[in-house]
Amino acid sequence: MKATRLGILGLGTVGSGLVDLLEKGGANLRHRLDHEIRVTRALVRDDTRERRLPSSMVTTDPAQVIEADDVDVVVELMGGIEPARSYILRALGAGKSVVTANKAVLARHGAELLAASHASGRPIGFEASVCGGIPLLRAISTGLIADEVDQMVGILNGTSNFVLSRMHQDGLDYATAVALAQERGLAEADPTLDVNGSDAAHKLILLAEIMFQTAVGLDQIEREGIEAIEPIDIQTADSFGYVIKPVAVAKRVEDALDLRVHPALVPYTHVLGPVSDEYNAVLLRGEATGETLFYGRGAGSLPTASAVLGDIVELVRHPDWRIPWDPAKSTKVRHVPGTSRFYLRFPVHDRPGLIGKVATALGEHGVSITHAQARLVGAEGAAGNLTILTHVTSEPVIAQVLSKIEKTGAVRAPALSLRILD
Ligand code: NAP
Ligand code: HSE
Repeated sequence: MKATRLGILGLGTVGSGLVDLLEKGGANLRHRLDHEIRVTRALVRDDTRERRLPSSMVTTDPAQVIEADDVDVVVELMGGIEPARSYILRALGAGKSVVTANKAVLARHGAELLAASHASGRPIGFEASVCGGIPLLRAISTGLIADEVDQMVGILNGTSNFVLSRMHQDGLDYATAVALAQERGLAEADPTLDVNGSDAAHKLILLAEIMFQTAVGLDQIEREGIEAIEPIDIQTADSFGYVIKPVAVAKRVEDALDLRVHPALVPYTHVLGPVSDEYNAVLLRGEATGETLFYGRGAGSLPTASAVLGDIVELVRHPDWRIPWDPAKSTKVRHVPGTSRFYLRFPVHDRPGLIGKVATALGEHGVSITHAQARLVGAEGAAGNLTILTHVTSEPVIAQVLSKIEKTGAVRAPALSLRILD
């Protein structure tokens, strides 16, 4: 029976998951494919720790995996930019196919890695890099290839969604919720990338490059994280019928693309409303298909390993298989200031006239209020928050009015503004 031999770079959350999945499902796969997939070597930083593989297979020397004769596919599951980038290039140069879950390196060095893949004639599979266990890249690059997608809205980062869900449902504080996401193997080695929107931006780059056939740079994505969200925002949103979600949006605007990642208030009745914890969801709008929704676990050991193994199986079946992706094409990305309803939270001191000052400034800029709530409990002068929901207005107007309100001295800290996804 033929065999494909894997050299895994990294035996952390996803690498160990891949070993587990092969242990549990390898026999079934062998039967279905009439082909064996087995791990022969693995690279780690610390080879004194106990691993799921015999110690004879584990090394700290990259050459013993990347250039080994008994490795056909190099599976990069280390994360980060370097040395991941160099190791992928070396693997392609050594004539190995590559499978990776590393969206950070693909988003930053996609064009270089793809050029090396073409030069070597060996493919790179990266299904696991976007939305973990959801076979989304395969779906958009095969099943939906004939459709013209003009809009995407989704939850692309499992950790941020998990953190906001636990703050909402269990009343955890932000730091405890982040620590729990790390403990469950959902977060990046540096969780800042999750909570500041970078990880979702990396995934949005790959999605946009594949769906819209354009090159995208990280600085072309408007990006806001979830770090400024406080329990009061979650509770207030809830009282108005909304839940706060970390969303990513891609929209065709005339001949350009508008791409952004930010937290937003989502109505409970929206399809993204019930998407909680590490689950991701992506809603696409295509000219032919209308709306199509993808939903599943976007992070975690086994869901991600399942997508990695899916790519390996694809390479067994079709050794030249590639996702149609060309990150070297010219860019069409342009930020287009949008309009939406807004949630505004003003941290204030309880002083006479402060609500009037804020409402007057909003009114002077033509921003109309739909709901307002003030929590200014305690003696006069105590710190509290004034929260406001607006009618539809534009982003530049909100930026102007917030800056004006700050200058009046009515607020004790900059306001938080979140878009409402209607
Ligand atoms: P992880 O748990 O931090 O594991 C990283 C592994 O790589 C560890 O075994 C580590 O070795 C090894 N490693 C790191 N740097 C190395 C170096 N310079 N030389 C040799 N070995 C090195 O990471 P992970 O969560 O499995 O994530 C791996 C990749 O999958 C990342 O690109 C991540 O973005 C992506 N991803 C993760 C998830 C998820 O849910 N976790 C989902 C989708 C995609 P030691 O064990 O010796 O420290
Ligand atoms: N840290 C990532 C997330 C892993 O939380 O979504 C999956 O890419």
